[in-house]
Amino acid sequence: MSQLLIEQLEPAGFSDFLRYLDDHLSDNGRGDTAYFQPLPRDASRFPADKAEAFQAGLRTPLGTSGWRRLWVARDADGRIAGHIDLRAHPERHAAHRCLLGMGVDRDFRKHGLGSRLLAHAAQWARDAAGLAWIDLQVLSVNTPAISLYQRSGYVRTGEIPDMFLIDGRHFAYTSMSKRLDSQG
Ligand SMILES: CC(C)(COP(=O)(O)OP(=O)(O)OC[C@H]1O[C@@H](n2cnc3c(N)ncnc32)[C@H](O)[C@@H]1OP(=O)(O)O)[C@@H](O)C(=O)NCCC(=O)NCCS
Repeated sequence: MSQLLIEQLEPAGFSDFLRYLDDHLSDNGRGDTAYFQPLPRDASRFPADKAEAFQAGLRTPLGTSGWRRLWVARDADGRIAGHIDLRAHPERHAAHRCLLGMGVDRDFRKHGLGSRLLAHAAQWARDAAGLAWIDLQVLSVNTPAISLYQRSGYVRTGEIPDMFLIDGRHFAYTSMSKRLDSQG
C-alpha cells in the first residue's frame, strides 16, 4: 500500500474519477457496508447535476465562490484507490474555512490510506491555501469514518437528529471540524 501515490486530479481526468466514484457509491447501504452517503440504496451513484458542479469547481480559482480541489491515490497501474476533496462553503464570509469529502475503495481499506489522504488535504489547506478550518458532515451511523476523523484531529461540533429519511430509515447527521494550526 505504501506505493500508492497521492496526486491532485486535473479537470481532464474527471470522467475516470466519476467511474471510480460511481463504483464506490454502489456499496452505499449494501451488505455489511453502512450507509455512508445520504442517497437511497438503489440510487447510489453520483447525481449528474452534482457532477457538473463538482467539475466546474475544479476550474474555479481558489478563494472564489464554488472552488473545489480533488486528490486521488493511485496504485502502480494507475487505478484510483481513494480520493479526498475540499470545497468552498456556500455561505459568504466563510472563506477561511472549507468542506471535506472522501472515500477509499473497498479493496484498499484499513491500510492507512484514509489517514494519509486526510493529512495530505490538511497540509494543502493550511500551507497552500492558507485556510484556518476544515469542516465536514458525516452520517452518524458511519462509525468507521467518525473514528478516522477523530484520530485525525476532527472534533464533533453537533448532530442533527433525523436529518434524512432514506429507504424507510431515519439518519442523524454529525458535524465535525478541525482547526489547522502550525502542527497540522
Ligand atoms: C471511512 C474510510 C474512508 C476509511 O478509510 P481507510 O483507508 O480504511 O482508513 P484507515 O486505513 O486510515 O483507517 C481505518 C482503520 O484501519 C486501521 N488501520 C490502518 N492501517 C492499518 C494496518 N496497516 N493494519 C491494520 N489496520 C490498519 C486504522 O487504525 C483504522 O482502525 P479503526 O477502524 O479501528 O479506527 C473508508 O472505510 C471508506 O471509504 N468508507 C466508505 C466511504 C465513507 O465512509 N466516506 C467518508 C464519509 S462520506
